[in-house]
Amino acid sequence: MNMLVASLTFLPLFTVAFAHYLWAFGNTWPIRNEALLAQTVVGRPGITKMPNRFVTFVVATALIVFGIVALSLADPVAGGVGLAPFWTLAQSLAARGTRATLFYGARRAEELFYLDVFRNLGVELVLTTEDGSAGEKGRVIAPLDRALAARNADRPVTIYACGPEGMLESTARTAARFDRRCEVSVERIMGCGMGGCYSCVVPMKDEAGGFHHVRSCITGPVIDAAQIVWD
Ligand code: FES
Repeated sequence: MNMLVASLTFLPLFTVAFAHYLWAFGNTWPIRNEALLAQTVVGRPGITKMPNRFVTFVVATALIVFGIVALSLADPVAGGVGLAPFWTLAQSLAARGTRATLFYGARRAEELFYLDVFRNLGVELVLTTEDGSAGEKGRVIAPLDRALAARNADRPVTIYACGPEGMLESTARTAARFDRRCEVSVERIMGCGMGGCYSCVVPMKDEAGGFHHVRSCITGPVIDAAQIVWD
């Protein structure tokens, strides 16, 4: 769905929401009479009052939030067994109406798993293999780069990555180049999983321009990619 189709689809929804806001703030535009406006909206004579303004405000806000969520996109990026967390993510995205495109790379065709699970959830699949036995030959970053370049800059896109460290870094750098939010599930050996052994630390940027280490078993494992020091 390109931006034009998306706009045509959701324009009525945003227009209705805007009209609700007008009344929520006491404006009876385009009819300068509350009773007449109420009769026009409800379609029945004899009604003299519009709905409660607070309720109208809540309804308008819900319409706006629904529209924004429905317009947003998600690009999960999976490398090898990094596919695992995206099953439940895809379910959540489908439940809230967010369109998802899964960029999924593996070494060979036999290592691409559960494709039908994602197809059945309405997820678009972009596959790559290193030997070219399925999908595009090469790494998954190339088609991700092309997709981000083709996306309308006004359309909200969030990238989620899970897989080898090199793929996470490349995904983070690609997302930053297109100014897109990116969350990565960092891979670290986790000795205790409770913050006691410091085997899982990740270098993160600090406000002074330097960096400090955080324990990914506590702060993560899913972390804002823009905050990680990748060098
Ligand atoms: S796994 Fe031990 S501190 Fe994180």
